[in-house]
Amino acid sequence: MADKPAKGLADVVAASTALSDIDGGAGRLFYRGYDIHDLSGRISFEECVHLLQRGSLPTRPQLASLMADLAANRDIGPTADGLLPQVVRAGTPMESLRTLVSALSVDDPDAGDSGPAANERKALRLVAQLPVLVARYQAERSGASVPEPDTSLGIAGNFLLQITGRRPGARETEIFDECLVLHADHTMNASTFAARVCAATLSDMHSAITAAIGTLRGPLHGGANEEVMKTLQAIKGGVDEVEPFVRDALGSGRKIMGFGHRVYKTEDPRATHLRRMSEELGELTGNRRPFDLSRRMEQVVLEVKGLYPNVDFFAASVYHQLGIPTDLFTSVFAISRISGWTSHVMEQQLDNRLIRPDSEYIGERDQKWVPIDDR
Ligand code: COA
Repeated sequence: MADKPAKGLADVVAASTALSDIDGGAGRLFYRGYDIHDLSGRISFEECVHLLQRGSLPTRPQLASLMADLAANRDIGPTADGLLPQVVRAGTPMESLRTLVSALSVDDPDAGDSGPAANERKALRLVAQLPVLVARYQAERSGASVPEPDTSLGIAGNFLLQITGRRPGARETEIFDECLVLHADHTMNASTFAARVCAATLSDMHSAITAAIGTLRGPLHGGANEEVMKTLQAIKGGVDEVEPFVRDALGSGRKIMGFGHRVYKTEDPRATHLRRMSEELGELTGNRRPFDLSRRMEQVVLEVKGLYPNVDFFAASVYHQLGIPTDLFTSVFAISRISGWTSHVMEQQLDNRLIRPDSEYIGERDQKWVPIDDR
């Protein structure tokens, strides 16, 4: 008989990884040994992709080569292209992203090959294609056309350009780039675990990423950033309304999205940077309201419930101020986390064993079968 499981596998070590590490007590996060506080605002998302997928921070020539590869691999192929209008009409952004990523595999030049070299090419291609899928979704539903990518911009700048239809300011681009770096990887979070479970059956990269996207969608995981924005928008008055709003929600047993974390017992280090960016964008846009409401909410939730904001809390006001529609926030999370997911899939398959835990049986025993007409 199996032991009583840790509910939600809390504290269970499910994999070995050299990609990221968290010290939950101290509130620290590392990508391949680099403290996120050292990387945030100092490396581009493309450098972060190189660090995670290829194992090191790139030299200038390596970065130039990676950026050229990304630019050359944006094409989503005829299958996803053909499906797009139908999927957009019927599905939410995350449903569409899940379906379209699955469709990308059909036209992938390395389809059918899950060797290390093919996996590395697929991993990079997915980083290039995901932002295009989200931008195409937005254009399709709003009847706009997607602006041609600007070769002088990286993933962050081109995404903002293609979502908003206008060339982003330099500081907006830097801020969004920093957001992408902050969301890139986070040890054995639920979507990464889903990707690794799938990859460990020796299934293919696109299947693992499809599983990850479906897992990210839930409001207890990546879906929380959209819920945070809805919460902020539900407060119609000024900052004075935040405290009664929070007390009422907590008093009636509701969770406040964007707070709490399975691993961090203090401030999530990503929230430190996102808070700063939220305030800066408030100044830059002349609209401090989303930041001021958020700041007050974090004070009240800490005071009443002792919970700290997680990555999704200040990300909401940052994305909002960057002009990204609320229902695309979780998709934005995915265009960053694809770098981590793909790296975990490669890591899993380089030293694989099937992930197949046990379960504790809690059902009836010794049941006697009776014929259907006698039940
Ligand atoms: N608002 C209010 N209460 C919260 C809370 C929140 N955001 N997060 C946790 N709690 C409370 C729970 O109600 C529970 O209280 P109880 O012991 O009185 O029942 C306690 O804190 C433990 O929460 P639990 O959900 O069991 O912790 P977990 O480790 O399983 O969950 C999260 C971690 C992230 C799923 C959880 O904090 C949460 O649901 N947060 C909101 C969703 C979110 O922001 N997700 C993004 C994560 S990056």
